[in-house]
Amino acid sequence: MSTETANPIYEPNPPEHLTMRESFAIMRENYMNAWTADAYREPYVVNKVLGTQFIIVAKPEYIKHILLDNADNYVKSPMQQTTLIPFAGNGLLTSDGSFWRRQRRIMQPAFHHKSLMSFADTMVSATDKMLERWHNYAGTDEPLDVWEEMTHVTLDIISRTMFGTGMNEVDAAFVRHAFGVISKDLGTPPYQDLLGLPSWIPRFVSRRAKKVIRELRTFIENIIAERRASGSEGQGDLLDMLLNMRDEETGEGMTDGQLRDEVITVFLAGHETTANGLAWAWYILSERPDVERRLFEEVHGVLKVRAPTFEDLKAMPYNKMVFEETIRLFPPAPAFLRKAIGPDRIGDLDIPAGAEMTIAPWITHHHHDLWEKPNEFIPERFSPENSKKRHKYAYFPFGGGTRICIGNSFAMMEAQLIMATIVRKYRLKLVPGHPVEPLSKITLRPRYGVKVRIEHQEALAEAAD
Ligand code: HEM
Repeated sequence: MSTETANPIYEPNPPEHLTMRESFAIMRENYMNAWTADAYREPYVVNKVLGTQFIIVAKPEYIKHILLDNADNYVKSPMQQTTLIPFAGNGLLTSDGSFWRRQRRIMQPAFHHKSLMSFADTMVSATDKMLERWHNYAGTDEPLDVWEEMTHVTLDIISRTMFGTGMNEVDAAFVRHAFGVISKDLGTPPYQDLLGLPSWIPRFVSRRAKKVIRELRTFIENIIAERRASGSEGQGDLLDMLLNMRDEETGEGMTDGQLRDEVITVFLAGHETTANGLAWAWYILSERPDVERRLFEEVHGVLKVRAPTFEDLKAMPYNKMVFEETIRLFPPAPAFLRKAIGPDRIGDLDIPAGAEMTIAPWITHHHHDLWEKPNEFIPERFSPENSKKRHKYAYFPFGGGTRICIGNSFAMMEAQLIMATIVRKYRLKLVPGHPVEPLSKITLRPRYGVKVRIEHQEALAEAAD
């Protein structure tokens, strides 16, 4: 289906072939660069390392089979788990089987649309707080790293929605530091994982990562203990919901240890992903003034000078399409892994027990058979008519099947509200010459951040009125 790209935002340049040694070195540095060109052309690619089959699956029908139709045969791969378990413990991201099922049942209602609507004001006011700081930068030559800014604001939002009030600056700085260290030190897959060695063989975790993990766990445990002691009824935040939720089948709630693991998991999964998606959006908007202008006109047309609300989102479909297309090109979770526990067959693909499956939104979202001009930014792909024509598993930034992202609606609402709040006031221009390159560690972020200058939208607003 693919035709030549006229105006790519970013063009993957995969190698045709890599030796095992080259592949391991690249995987540890920036794992998506170790995916060879055939992965973007073929329905699947099979490699054998020390007797284990490593299979990259790109074809939507096959992905659906793994994530949904025969999901019980595919557990979370220990390869990814050994990296995450030291700090996410037995939370939703890392658990499996009946324990995971029970936890998901308990937590699901907190992420329903109805519960989330109450967080919209918090999302907007956290963004407004950030914009007060931006005021001093607007119209000057002083650059800002908008990737860092997005990480701060999404962390502020997840703390306010989780704990009611935002954290004080000292605590927020500590949590930012902790997640920064974790992402840096645990984001490099150990050789034992790349070779598919069993999880009882110890993996190296840096001393500073062990220290921040210990501190982070104690920090969250103290918040839970304080909340239990003070009585949690009526706060309406996520922690309140999680404390009071009961399994509808057994009537049981969570222990403090489970609660700690889930809070850390939601913090981890729920801020950097959205922040990365937004940082990529600002980069793209700076490169594509035509899209930025259309987005501004939509937002300005609905809001004029007021702040957005949850109800406004329906009236701003282009805003949603821009974010959807951004996380097609730059999926914040570029790949996730499964292990086959029994043999299976999908179409012409034989899967032995023990095979390590890579399911990569990055690859499927750039696949030449599935997308016309896969490297171009075309928000119209996500109009309701065009979305209907597509296989559901050709586009899956939030995963799919039983383990689909629990924070999917939270993230979409947050991204749209943050974008509308900012676009209404400011345009962001990439500092000329600033290098922008995707780096896949646990998530997909811009390696050097996204340095921008901030300009006022007033001129555009006057023209639009
Ligand atoms: C653009 C933002 C986000 C993206 C791209 C994203 C992506 C994903 C993906 C791909 C998975 C599935 C991984 C797998 O199947 O192995 C996942 C799971 C998860 N996500 Fe997200 N996520 C985002 C935002 C959020 C937010 C805002 C939250 C919470 C507030 C969250 C919480 C979780 C949790 C707890 C899981 C584990 C679910 C389970 O296994 O039951 N995510 N996410």
